[in-house]
Amino acid sequence: MFPKNGLRESIPVNRKNDMKFFVDTAEISEIAELNDLGMVDGVTTNPSLILKSGRNILEVTKEICDLVEGPVSAEVVSLKSDEMIAEGRKLAAIAENIAVKVPLTWDGLKTCKTLTDDGFKVNVTLCFSTNQALLAAKAGAAFISPFVGRLDDINIDGMDLIAEIRQIYDNYAFETEILVASIRTVNHITQSAIIGADVVTVPPAILKKLIHHPLTDKGLEGFMKDWAKTGQKIL
Ligand code: G3P
Repeated sequence: MFPKNGLRESIPVNRKNDMKFFVDTAEISEIAELNDLGMVDGVTTNPSLILKSGRNILEVTKEICDLVEGPVSAEVVSLKSDEMIAEGRKLAAIAENIAVKVPLTWDGLKTCKTLTDDGFKVNVTLCFSTNQALLAAKAGAAFISPFVGRLDDINIDGMDLIAEIRQIYDNYAFETEILVASIRTVNHITQSAIIGADVVTVPPAILKKLIHHPLTDKGLEGFMKDWAKTGQKIL
């Protein structure tokens, strides 16, 4: 929606000093590896990622919360608000850094408002439109999770949605953080940073790809060859 020399126009805003990296996984070893590198500002999980981990949701979520300081999203699985609220409270009791994840339905938004009023952080997930993002902000969500990869899958540019939500939230100074989800490529991360998304939640394998550049590899190889020729040692 905002093409300019092949890039979406960055929208100037008076905001923030950090782009947060969350990891989108419930695999403890993967979280620990990236956490040791200082690359984990939070974690997101969902029922599919819990299934993939083969772990009990309460146990694995507690382990993640013990490992990581930032917000850890754990998702409710009921569809009615009364049950969602009860599940959310149980998940929130796991640790102080839990963000309760709810789907973008009216019951989910009611749950969001109730849990937010209780003082919990809520992440509203399965967002595919600007109007849904507006509703989540009105319900007091700490995070909105637009799924860019799944929009790309149906031939709609997911990053356009991020740019539009950024603009809408900035127009009204909504404090809900834009958490870009369903990230499939490193380019999604670049575009998120250009647009000024607050958070990207990234599968570990994609986060690791961010470092790759052939000129870095080639340059290092050249330095190593030349260093060997000096015959010197530092240690
Ligand atoms: O956290 C949820 C989201 O990232 C899902 O991603 O790849 O299943 O569309 P994906």
